[in-house]
Amino acid sequence: MGETETALVKFGGSVITDKRKSLTFLSGNVLSLSSEIFSFMRGGRERRVVIVHGGGSFGHIKAKSYSIAGGLKRTGQLRGYAEVRSDMRNLNGRIVSSLLDSGVSAIAVQAESIVSFSGRRVIAEDFSMVDRALEHGLVPVTFGDAVFDNSLYFTIISGDVLMESLCRHLKPDVAVFCTDVDGVYDRNPSKNRNARLLDRLDRSTVVETTASSRPDVTGEMEGKLSVLFNIAENSGRALVINGRISGRLYAALSGKNPRGTRVLPD
Ligand code: IPE
Repeated sequence: MGETETALVKFGGSVITDKRKSLTFLSGNVLSLSSEIFSFMRGGRERRVVIVHGGGSFGHIKAKSYSIAGGLKRTGQLRGYAEVRSDMRNLNGRIVSSLLDSGVSAIAVQAESIVSFSGRRVIAEDFSMVDRALEHGLVPVTFGDAVFDNSLYFTIISGDVLMESLCRHLKPDVAVFCTDVDGVYDRNPSKNRNARLLDRLDRSTVVETTASSRPDVTGEMEGKLSVLFNIAENSGRALVINGRISGRLYAALSGKNPRGTRVLPD
């Protein structure tokens, strides 16, 4: 992993916003994550960080009500597409400001400058903006977004897709997903009081878990499992932690094992 240490971090929408209330920014959580990124970077001259954030209530609510992900079907959706793009830039601006206030030289990088889409699939990648920013010690901050799509006209790209592309390119020493729960559970913790936190997760754990309980492994985390395994393949360590509890991101970045789930490659 050489002399430079690279970290890829996702700020999940459930950490940075209140997902139930439209356009509700959780500034305290973002400030706390920002200062932990600062502390990590200060610990070594050659520490590079790339941040991806989700949409939370700045993205999902309107994206759903205007059906943006499935592409253009009626002109009334164009207004929604424009609004989601505007709301996401507003959210990104607040996150970049929080990072700057914490001493991190963050710059916004549009998802569309990294990935191009057709039929909701990534058809091309270009990491030159990200690489250029990193060469100079800047911290690129990209985000899930409403984007143009060559065949659908527009679609929604999730921050997880960006995490996968960036991870394949950067091969980070550590990739951390900050969520609003402590990690990946054997059952959905919001529906099951006996849900157990998995401190390690590999493909065999998933098979056991789904066989012994329900296919609903972790509620919102369910659809993310294949993303997590792909990321584990391409990073030194991959972790899912609770980004609402201060100290855990810093611990994860600096090689400690905070409460959370370590995702293991095959
Ligand atoms: C969603 O990104 C982006 C939009 C809805 C515009 P994510 O799917 O990564 O967002 P979260 O983390 O689940 O909120």
